[in-house]
Amino acid sequence: MHAPVPAYDPDALYEEAAAFVRQCYAELDREAEIEDRLAAIEASIAETGHYEHTFDELAHGARMAWRNSNRCIGRLFWQRLHVLDERDADDAEAVADGLYRHLEYATNDGAIRPTITIFKPMVRGEQQVRLWNYQLVRYAGYETDDGIVGDPDSLAFTEYCQSRGWAGEGTDYDVLPLVIQLRDREPKLFEIPDELVAEVPIRHPDYEWFDELELKWYGVPVVSNMRLEIGGLQYTAAPFNGWYVATEIGARNFADEYRYDVLPEVGDRMGLDTSRDRSLWKDEALVELNKAVVHSYDREGVTIVDHHTAARQFEEFEKREAEADREVTGDWTWLIPPVSPATTHVFHKKYDNEIRTPNYFYQDAPHEDG
Ligand code: ARG
Repeated sequence: MHAPVPAYDPDALYEEAAAFVRQCYAELDREAEIEDRLAAIEASIAETGHYEHTFDELAHGARMAWRNSNRCIGRLFWQRLHVLDERDADDAEAVADGLYRHLEYATNDGAIRPTITIFKPMVRGEQQVRLWNYQLVRYAGYETDDGIVGDPDSLAFTEYCQSRGWAGEGTDYDVLPLVIQLRDREPKLFEIPDELVAEVPIRHPDYEWFDELELKWYGVPVVSNMRLEIGGLQYTAAPFNGWYVATEIGARNFADEYRYDVLPEVGDRMGLDTSRDRSLWKDEALVELNKAVVHSYDREGVTIVDHHTAARQFEEFEKREAEADREVTGDWTWLIPPVSPATTHVFHKKYDNEIRTPNYFYQDAPHEDG
């Protein structure tokens, strides 16, 4: 969800903190501690204009934020989010080390663990840490004389990295560097060590020619550009990951015309009639491409979920939330899968898209500022 950072206001900060603390401690069955905790927060804000979360508040707040993420179909697992507290990291090198630890912990040799690493929040309206990357691991995109090489979605960010002296090899799958900003300093760039980047070559269970497309994708999607808001505090650097739904890769990253755009080649190799929409060649090619993604992640032992299973898990989440007497909010346009949407229960329901906090919010891309 896009929402500008609320202007810094100590009174509003206390009100937000109090609302969060009441809900958080009630959910954790620790109501007895609420009044003392509120008094401490009030005193801290009066004295310093700021307050700090305890680890338990931070961890539960990050989990509530996941639970409130209207566009996410993976929310059944919100209580299993592993929280790494890196609020001490106070220079770019320390932040980079924290991000390396995140990649290693979350990847877990393929048995992906949903993980968030939380860096210093804004203090009295001043941003402390910001990651310029969209995801920790993402492929570069280059404009060349023979068209775009790599991921077209990364063109602007890649150009920024090049302007800072970074150079990729020029393949379709060059991993971009981490770009880490502390306060108002110029960001620093860090290469990610290869051994921290799990990747999956894409093969098809039946079509041997599929290898020749030389497709691959990375294992763990770690969204790193969103702002986590808990109790009025703004965590502008709080990268988090779950695991992929196969359609994100097979029906979007590889299939969109403005991304890797491989459907025409898959269709041709399958011998389909790609000259007429009426042959439904795109639909056939999409299904085989998505089967290849699921098969390949399984083969490499990297966690992935298909969209039917993900929808069932979301149905279970809805059931559990009802049992806990909470309303599930959701954004239908994002919850339905991009392949065979009407085969999932999500398609046939309505969802209330109200935005609750704690939550994760979009932030403007710093490298695109005018
Ligand atoms: N759709 C994004 C991508 O293809 C990833 C977003 C997060 N996805 C997730 N399963 N946690 O890279």
